[in-house]
Amino acid sequence: MKAIRGATTVACDCAEEVRGAVAELLINIKKVNNLADGQIICIMFSNTADIRSYYPAKAAREAGFSDVALYSSLEPIIEGSLEKCIRVMMLVESDDPVKHIYLRGAKVLRKDLTAVVNIALDGPAGSGKSTISRLIAKKMNILCLDTGAMYRACALKCVREGVAVTDERAVAGIMQNLNLKVEYCGGVQKTLLDGDDVSGEIRKNEISMLASTVSVLDCVRSKMVELQREIAKSTSCILDGRDIGSNVLPDARFKFFLTASPEVRAKRRYSELKNKGFVVDFEELKSEIIKRDEQDANRKNAPLKMADDAVLVDSSDMSVEEVAAFIQNKIQEKI
Ligand code: DC
Repeated sequence: MKAIRGATTVACDCAEEVRGAVAELLINIKKVNNLADGQIICIMFSNTADIRSYYPAKAAREAGFSDVALYSSLEPIIEGSLEKCIRVMMLVESDDPVKHIYLRGAKVLRKDLTAVVNIALDGPAGSGKSTISRLIAKKMNILCLDTGAMYRACALKCVREGVAVTDERAVAGIMQNLNLKVEYCGGVQKTLLDGDDVSGEIRKNEISMLASTVSVLDCVRSKMVELQREIAKSTSCILDGRDIGSNVLPDARFKFFLTASPEVRAKRRYSELKNKGFVVDFEELKSEIIKRDEQDANRKNAPLKMADDAVLVDSSDMSVEEVAAFIQNKIQEKI
């Protein structure tokens, strides 16, 4: 006997929607797994508490599953769970490997049931890592950790203390008492330095190069990597950075390396900064990005590098949605 899992969602809580979604899910499971009626032993459903108007077992009977044992239950309200979701477990007699079916965006990690999953998303400046990781995190209902923001906060702290980012001794002193925290508000990362929300300030273009320079120092990297590992240990998250797959989390379950041509990356950064109201010169920005890539890729300690087992994604000619869908599909193939 084998168990096939599946899930789907409904747009609204009404009988018609539940009937349609359940029929579609069961027919798909049967078709994809090439099942005859006689192989199905029983079908068990659960649905989120926001579906009240109809129950899935009844919809299954109506969809033609007349001879199998059916069972429906209501799930407790779980924070962070999908809304209007119907889950199913079908027990079947089969010698073949089974395929689980998730429809209508229902494949989302449930924090309470799922083991910690870490996704490493590395790449050079302006490759779109932050945008993509925010999208994936939202779709998968997990956190995203922008590790670049942490190095930016270190650079900002040096500026505030009047310390040169190349002065290793002075920076090491700062690192000893660094008060850096990462918090989440509605899924959005907030970077707190000495209790201040510096999420906006660290995005300034002048901080970019300073962050790259300060990130070369061992005293900075060891501190940041420790914090990143601590967060990733207990939380399913996507971490975007330069060395996540190759150094911070070499055992991450999923690794991607996102890149794009320097021209495309400079254009993206330019419009991002412009939208935030910062005035920048395009050519200057482009040469800064190239210089920063060189510095990040050529430092001795954990340089910008694609891990051997990472999937390379060149997003030069891809939209944000295409990149996110590509990465999400790669993840879903394995979960
Ligand atoms: O991703 P970003 O542009 O916000 O990163 C700013 C700098 O921080 C980047 O030029 C190098 C450094 N960095 C790093 O060394 N390792 C990381 N994992 C993330 C960023």
